[in-house]
Amino acid sequence: ETPRIAVVGSLNMDLVVSAAAFPRKGETITGHAIHYIPGGKGANQAVACARLGAMVSMIGAVGDDQFGRRLREVLEQEGVDVSGVATLPGIATGVASIIHAEQDNRIIVVPGANGEVTPELIERYREQITAADALLVQLEIPLPAVESALRIAREEGVTTILNPAPVQHLPASLLSLVDYITPNELEFQILASKADSQGNFGQANSNSHAREKQRTDSDNAEQQLAVELEQNLQAWSEAVAPAIVLTLGSKGALLCKAGEVSAAAAPQVQVVDTTGAGDCLNGAFATCLAKGMSPQQALQLAVKAATISVTVFGAQAGMPTWEQLDVDI
Ligand code: RIB
Ligand code: NA
Repeated sequence: ETPRIAVVGSLNMDLVVSAAAFPRKGETITGHAIHYIPGGKGANQAVACARLGAMVSMIGAVGDDQFGRRLREVLEQEGVDVSGVATLPGIATGVASIIHAEQDNRIIVVPGANGEVTPELIERYREQITAADALLVQLEIPLPAVESALRIAREEGVTTILNPAPVQHLPASLLSLVDYITPNELEFQILASKADSQGNFGQANSNSHAREKQRTDSDNAEQQLAVELEQNLQAWSEAVAPAIVLTLGSKGALLCKAGEVSAAAAPQVQVVDTTGAGDCLNGAFATCLAKGMSPQQALQLAVKAATISVTVFGAQAGMPTWEQLDVDI
């Protein structure tokens, strides 16, 4: 059966300037190209799911302008149902200013219409969420809208996946509605430490006894770090409820579910553009779960999909099809 995914999130026009390196403070440099390409974490994840054969509903907002029309059109071409994408008069479509420098990128997002997505708007498209096997949300729309989407999904037993990007503090009430949370390393550090300083969860980093034991077992610093990371994952996942998918870039990803940590390694490739790699991983993970795979299997394929995506320029262009996933890279 065809998996059904609802994506509640952002649509941005990406203004991508490519250069050999980032300018330093106060420096002006000459770049080699500018591209206007469809992006936004929500839309990127929707495309990732659709390319892998899912039936996808996108819920969000654009402005009544050229960028907005283009973003809808491109999603439609990918086979995504955009009837849940509202066009808001008098407000600009979201824009991301991206500096793309070889192995790396830096992004500033101006939310525009994405910032106007309300719980009422989400409620209007409730049926698209309840009809789905899985709901994917990110943090490029206001938190109340994210929370209401999660609540609708949870009420109907729809699997919920939260990609906490851009990272911000998340109340326990919201986290309790999430089945899988998918931070990268930096986001995980911030989420786990925020929890600490607020005294809400309190456990990440505090497992000193176990850490001491490991220290005598191994003098390999890298292994040591891996052990600590695993302990922090276990502690945090115990404290906050959702299972964690920790993305590690070219090193793949870790899954921490019910106290068990498992790894998915990434094949080595020639990197062209990492923009949207996280979105690809999230979309593929959701699609594979919705197909009924185990989370471990889903993560293996999701890491592979994301690895394929970084070999192509642009956030959406490199999202693989199911056939591409089968081919060895
Ligand atoms: O995750 C990549 C995306 O982040 C880009 O497409 C950009 O729009 C920003 O939202
Ligand atoms: Na890419």
